[in-house]
Amino acid sequence: MATNDFPSELFLPFLNQESELPQYALLFRAFQQAILQGDLIPGAKLPASRPLSVTLNISRNTVKTAFEMLQAEGYIDTRHGSGSFVSAQIPVPSKRLSDKQKPATKETVQPPLSDMAKRLQQFQTGHSDAPGKLLAPAQCCVDSFPWEQWQKQVAKAGRQMKFAPSTSTMGDDLLRNQIASYLQVTRGVSCDAEQVMICSGSQQALYLSFQLLLNADDTVWVEDPGYHGISGAITSVRANEFPVPTDQDGFEVNYAIKHKIDARAAIVTPSHNYPMGYTLSLERRLALIEWAKQHSSWIIEDDYDSEFRYEGPPLTALQGLGGEHCVIYAGTFTRILHPSIRLGYLIIPPALVEPFTKAKRYIDGGISQLPQLALGEFMASGQFSSHVRRMRKLYQHRRKVLNDAIADALEGILKRVPSDGGMHSVFLLPPDYSDKEICTLTDRQGLGIRALSNYYSGTKPQQGLIVGFAGYNDEQLKTGIKVLASIITNQP
Ligand SMILES: Cc1ncc(COP(=O)(O)O)c(C=O)c1O
Repeated sequence: MATNDFPSELFLPFLNQESELPQYALLFRAFQQAILQGDLIPGAKLPASRPLSVTLNISRNTVKTAFEMLQAEGYIDTRHGSGSFVSAQIPVPSKRLSDKQKPATKETVQPPLSDMAKRLQQFQTGHSDAPGKLLAPAQCCVDSFPWEQWQKQVAKAGRQMKFAPSTSTMGDDLLRNQIASYLQVTRGVSCDAEQVMICSGSQQALYLSFQLLLNADDTVWVEDPGYHGISGAITSVRANEFPVPTDQDGFEVNYAIKHKIDARAAIVTPSHNYPMGYTLSLERRLALIEWAKQHSSWIIEDDYDSEFRYEGPPLTALQGLGGEHCVIYAGTFTRILHPSIRLGYLIIPPALVEPFTKAKRYIDGGISQLPQLALGEFMASGQFSSHVRRMRKLYQHRRKVLNDAIADALEGILKRVPSDGGMHSVFLLPPDYSDKEICTLTDRQGLGIRALSNYYSGTKPQQGLIVGFAGYNDEQLKTGIKVLASIITNQP
């Protein structure tokens, strides 16, 4: 085939693209694609290397190298004296789509998905825009993270990996021991290191718990308002949520027992209800544990930020109040240390350790060893505890700055929901205000405040604002509140 007949223009875009790859590799890929897509059919003769190199304005060696690679991988056959041909063994694509028919964008492609994946499509992916915005909840103070100490621990962990070649599905032993001791002391959790499973954040920990404890059509009690990050996980197993109202004493256990006693599980944030910040009263804690024991049901205790409790003594976890056989306790380091650390854990009742371990092996085979080793040493050296203490003081101060600024600027409009701790405050609006409308406006002005009404799933929503303070210094907090105040006071 003369190069004149050959569609060399097909290959020019490949060679002209900005790429770190050498030109022979780009030419190889161009031919490979043309063959696989059926633009060059089996038996088609390729031009000789010299004229092709002239047409494409590249060296002959580049063409020769690309042809050698194509031959080595079986795309072309070279017959001495006759030239190179597309291999007859390459199957012709069953349907050659014309350019017009080709799916142009991701949106037009409807890949065949499992039923579970289809169910998950209805949920939002999360608040990925929050980090750049002021007053967003769940943002910790990354500027205060002890980078130097952490980097030393990571370097040390890198060296240790040489002597710790295999990983355990449940997690690194040092870290598991540290977590068990830490929880025994600070949260009254009754466990040993064997019961600790390291997960990638508490999201995975909760997802795994639902996958292994619930069946389709089982009912789960959920707090209302509550953390909607769990809805996708509950839906993934086709279980049903039963929203249970919360008041200043937390989750209304008696309401749940009265209306849906046969639930398979309850997922609760007893230390600091999300998002309202209520603490579950002792009476209700004991009633919840009693219900779980009597009905062989499970309690999933999501203890996502109880390190940041500013008033009163530390609370004993449900797990430590006699719930060690019916409570699955989930905790996380993403709020305490850094969002990208993605490490959390489960404390599993003894009878569940084996089934959870087996399942985790097939789910991810265990979490990467390096951050676990670094975190284990970070805890063992006392650096973790001193960081928590420093952040507790800092966040307590920031909470006061936020609450004072709101009291000054929006007195009589916003009413703070009392809470003993956390990284955000909740403020109720008078019922004739729309929190969603306010949040649409604050979002446009660069604030990450969230609308409380979005967190309700059954009971009548209250209008309110969830305002984060932990990740922002005094100046940022005051600036953010000024913007919020001007938006709210200009509401018709
Ligand atoms: C109540 C609650 N539980 C669980 C999580 C998930 O935490 P993680 O980042 O460890 O997956 C969050 C995250 O914001 C949360 O607010």
